[in-house]
Amino acid sequence: MGRPRALPVGALLLLGLCGARAWRSAEQVSPLVTLEQLLWVSGGEIGEVDTYRVPLIAATPGGSLLAFAEARKFSSSDLGAKFVALRRSTDGGATWSPSTFIVDDGSRADGLNLGAVVVDRENGTVFLIYALCAHNGQPCASSTMIIRSRDDGVSWSWPRNLSAEIGLDKFAPGPGLGVQKRYEPHRGRLIVCGHRTLDLDGIYCLLSDDYGESWRLGGALHGIPYGKPKFTNDFNPDECQPYELPDGSLVINARNQNFYHCACRIVARSWDGGETLPPEAVTFDPVLVDPAVAAGAVLAAGLVFFSNPAHQSLRVNLTLRWRAAEDPAHWQRPLQVWPGPSGYSSLAALEGAGAPGDPPTLYLIYEKGRNQSIESISLAKISISGSL
Ligand SMILES: *[C@@H]1O[C@H](CO)[C@@H](O)[C@H](O)[C@H]1NC(C)=O
Ligand SMILES: *[C@@H]1O[C@H](CO)[C@@H](O)[C@H](O)[C@H]1NC(C)=O
Ligand SMILES: *[C@@H]1O[C@H](CO)[C@@H](O)[C@H](O)[C@H]1NC(C)=O
Ligand SMILES: *[C@@H]1O[C@H](CO)[C@@H](O)[C@H](O)[C@H]1NC(C)=O
Repeated sequence: MGRPRALPVGALLLLGLCGARAWRSAEQVSPLVTLEQLLWVSGGEIGEVDTYRVPLIAATPGGSLLAFAEARKFSSSDLGAKFVALRRSTDGGATWSPSTFIVDDGSRADGLNLGAVVVDRENGTVFLIYALCAHNGQPCASSTMIIRSRDDGVSWSWPRNLSAEIGLDKFAPGPGLGVQKRYEPHRGRLIVCGHRTLDLDGIYCLLSDDYGESWRLGGALHGIPYGKPKFTNDFNPDECQPYELPDGSLVINARNQNFYHCACRIVARSWDGGETLPPEAVTFDPVLVDPAVAAGAVLAAGLVFFSNPAHQSLRVNLTLRWRAAEDPAHWQRPLQVWPGPSGYSSLAALEGAGAPGDPPTLYLIYEKGRNQSIESISLAKISISGSL
């Protein structure tokens, strides 16, 4: 879809706010953390939950923020029984609802894992896709589950099992945000990407062209050697975060599990809305040094924002970077958000939470601690314009 050449100033401004045009050039942007607060603390004090991990943040068209996390009931293990914990904010992150548990997997040995949130802008429906029994060698049926909210996260549908529909034996969505295509091709499509198992690994995307009613398997980028155990330096794209560029292409920024080529991020592309992820388009981003972790990435105000613990082997040094959408090589001077232990992170942009005329406000949710990254889940509110 070509953009019209001449547009009134108001329309240009709107396009800018929606992410198509840079609100300011990347060099002029100087984001500022204006508020930071802990949403969950591990250690049995909140809902008797042992450990909170894998945070996700989403913004709805109605202006709500939804923060999700795995509430690991009895231990910090990736396996084991969990809840999905949710907190909501309707005032741009100033105050938050108490924690509610919107999914309970009972006492499963290999319980649920988050997950991807995808928001349908057109009618405000929020979908959360999560996995049950996603790990190898567990005596349980692996399942891909979906729940839906039509009231900005106040109430949720019962879980629906997508496994038969998508025909994938195992799928671990995200963790992070899904995409709803803003531009052609496939404008309006919902896209959720994730990975499979540690042996049969690789990135897979699920697609919905009917506003989340039905889902099917889209493109895949397989690990090498496919179907075999991976060793150090094998190609093993893992947890991933997609975002759409203003030219309608999709970028999938992925965890480089076995440090193929570098201790940095794998970048996959798709020009057909996630139908294919061509191997010849895969690159590595040497600036995005990474210890193999789930990272955040989002397009806002015409800029790409990226968050991760910027270290080649340790989960420390949570860092926010940004660059112009059309300029992959030029990341700007980064903003260190927390020098200490920090792990998984996720980013979302909310319109209208700043001063009038400001670009969207950025929210960064991440695993944060003093001794260990899994001590708490913290949310940083970030002004892209750098104003309080
Ligand atoms: C709104 O979402 C529902 C699914 O939740 C879907 O059936 C419907 O087609 C959507 N309508 C529009 C106009 O987006
Ligand atoms: C989901 O569907 C798959 C495939 O039909 C099945 O193996 C699995 O047991 C189902 N899971 C749940 C929780 O119902
Ligand atoms: C933290 O990240 C910044 C930005 O990338 C980098 O310059 C610095 O060396 C990192 N610090 C550590 C301790 O890794
Ligand atoms: C951090 O670790 C030190 C030494 O292992 C311990 O004394 C201290 O209590 C820990 N602090 C926290 C906040 O867990």
